[in-house]
Amino acid sequence: MWKMIKFVLLMILLGFSILGATFVDSELVVLDDDDSNATVSCDNNQYFLSSDGVFPGWNPKAKHPCTIERLSMENFEKRFDLQGGLPPLFPTPLVITDVPRDRNQRLRDLTSSDSILKNFPSNFTVTLSSSNSFSEHRRTIPFVQYLEEVATNVMTPDQKSNETWYFFGETFSKEWKKLLQHYILPPCQACQRDEQDTWVALSFGIGNSGSGVSWHIHGPGFSESIHGRKHWVLQQHEPEFHPDQTSYNWMYYNYSHLPESDRPLECTLNPGEMIYFPDMWWHATINLDDYTAFISTFTQEHLYVKQN
Ligand SMILES: [Fe+2]
Repeated sequence: MWKMIKFVLLMILLGFSILGATFVDSELVVLDDDDSNATVSCDNNQYFLSSDGVFPGWNPKAKHPCTIERLSMENFEKRFDLQGGLPPLFPTPLVITDVPRDRNQRLRDLTSSDSILKNFPSNFTVTLSSSNSFSEHRRTIPFVQYLEEVATNVMTPDQKSNETWYFFGETFSKEWKKLLQHYILPPCQACQRDEQDTWVALSFGIGNSGSGVSWHIHGPGFSESIHGRKHWVLQQHEPEFHPDQTSYNWMYYNYSHLPESDRPLECTLNPGEMIYFPDMWWHATINLDDYTAFISTFTQEHLYVKQN
């Protein structure tokens, strides 16, 4: 009887993989016939059935655990203010919570879904990046069109990352600089503004629920959620993932089957909260709300250490 149930479940799974735009022509291979560890491999992506045959998935709109140290702004200041903020090359991720609402209220007002277009000429364009690991492809479209897509597109876990487009990082034009000058930088020693942008580079992004960037690494910095909630997963060692797998797909098919002890560190940033991501830690992000806007501060902490 159980074998029959399992067969039906696998057939349903095969149906999804064939019908989904993402994994057409997938080859289905049952690798393990053991009841406790059924694994189906499709086109370099691995789909798993849990021991009870239930496909658990992952829902962006749900409430998610936080396994990163969370420190209220008040306690953060007690701990780091005498040093002038978070020291450079801090070794572990940190989430700062209970940030006074007025800290970045000006930028929050200017970038609400109703107001953001008022900061730009009517024909203003944005350059989108593909959502895969190293955001290797680009597409330029009118900003108004992108916002319409954010408002109407529904992300699914089976979209491929090199076929989904995301606005983040290409915010170096004079229009964006003018807007981002309102941002109050995170409380770190290397977080300083100067004319030449020596110490920080700011990147603004907007995405809808389920969008995000897949696993990648780079130097240290902060990211702050301005509107909506954003989920982060981080770890020091390279995770197992496919370069064209979206972060949503990874959370849905991989994360949900990892035993708790093997899961990356993770935390959801609520609006106003910020995360410190340490130097060269692997991380992926996934936006949880329909209009999630955020700003990342990439810091020159190695240079700061060298010069101080
Ligand atoms: Fe990143």
